[in-house]
Amino acid sequence: KYEKVWLIFGILSLIVFLSIVGVTAFAHGHTPAGGMDVIDPEKVDETAPFNEPGVKQIDKDTYEVVIVAQAFGYNPAKISVPVGKEIIFTSTSKDVVHSFTIEETKVNMMVVPGRITHKSYTFDKPGNYLVICNEYCGTGHHFMQTEIEVY
Ligand code: CUA
Repeated sequence: KYEKVWLIFGILSLIVFLSIVGVTAFAHGHTPAGGMDVIDPEKVDETAPFNEPGVKQIDKDTYEVVIVAQAFGYNPAKISVPVGKEIIFTSTSKDVVHSFTIEETKVNMMVVPGRITHKSYTFDKPGNYLVICNEYCGTGHHFMQTEIEVY
């Protein structure tokens, strides 16, 4: 008799567990507006906008810079954007966690595999800005950098 009780208890537990897993998976698959977008890190090269990394003009005052991070560099290797315009950085990683950190600015993006991160920034003076990786990502971490030319 007790065995039957435990069997029912076990089945109920399993149902509860599976419901939780299901709800969690659903929540992750359906990111609410304003949340982080998801991407398959294995398919970065085929997934827009990362199939074409680089600078794109969105409208008169807005540019988007699409960046793919991978140990130990960024694609594109060189970025040129105008001063005084809104620049939206959009990034993801193909392998491990990196950062896209623009020195002398407030831009310090975590670049996470499986996620798409955005950051908006307007440069107020022209010049060359160094971009470094702030997250330890392996033996080449200290060499992982690129440059932004603001014209
Ligand atoms: Cu990439 Cu450290």
